[in-house]
Amino acid sequence: MSDPYVEHGAAYAAHNAVAPYNALYERPALLELAGDVAGLDVLDLGCGPGVTTAALVGRGARVTGVDGSAPLVAHAQGLSDAAFVVHDLAAPLPFPPTTFDLVVSGLVLHYLPDWSAVLGEVARVLRPGGRLVASVHHPLTDVDIPSLEPHGTYLESYRVADTWRLGDEDVVVRFFHHPLGAMTAWIAGAGLALTDLVEPRPQAVMAERDPEAYARLTARPAFLLLAARRVG
Ligand SMILES: C[S@@+](CC[C@H](N)C(=O)[O-])C[C@H]1O[C@@H](n2cnc3c(N)ncnc32)[C@H](O)[C@@H]1O
Repeated sequence: MSDPYVEHGAAYAAHNAVAPYNALYERPALLELAGDVAGLDVLDLGCGPGVTTAALVGRGARVTGVDGSAPLVAHAQGLSDAAFVVHDLAAPLPFPPTTFDLVVSGLVLHYLPDWSAVLGEVARVLRPGGRLVASVHHPLTDVDIPSLEPHGTYLESYRVADTWRLGDEDVVVRFFHHPLGAMTAWIAGAGLALTDLVEPRPQAVMAERDPEAYARLTARPAFLLLAARRVG
């Protein structure tokens, strides 16, 4: 199956840098939940084009970014002096145990059919007491997207597809709907204790730049943020 983040990497990087959903909604909320990162060893899991990675570096963290898309990692390398690895999250992370204080993961986990293995790896590479801060598609938003495959019910995990305008092309992007209960069970199963669950609000400036999106997002969240701490 083709990977839009590989085939349309340049168009996605341009989109991600300025799109209101990323720049005025998800990224500020994720960085706020991450808090003070100065002096921390941070893994940006699914770093994509590296805008969040660069923001973390700018806030004084030592950051490593991993992503499955070589074109996006190449783009990320131009934005900051973080370390980067091209890596498929289906495989174990290429880092020793207890390497990081914080794992940040923006809009990535919903691409995985099951979070058990990757969250086990997150727990392994986190230091005791270290945190995971992640954003994902909100499970209520997923159920509104017309599926290209047989549609499941809210309480099941199932693959959905959406069509995004990237550059001058319509691109089909496939990801997974997971119910909230599955997400929290995967977090607990990995030995992580959920500490925060945030339904973010868009930045006030979005009301001027994209009033339609602002109205939509203040009525109903598109994304969900989760934070968890490694137990022990
Ligand atoms: C919506 S983008 C988010 C990028 C970045 N975190 C951000 O918020 O700007 C999703 C990213 O997840 C990456 N991704 C999806 N599935 C992956 C996998 N199995 N292994 C590694 N990266 C993956 C894609 O390559 C893409 O860069």
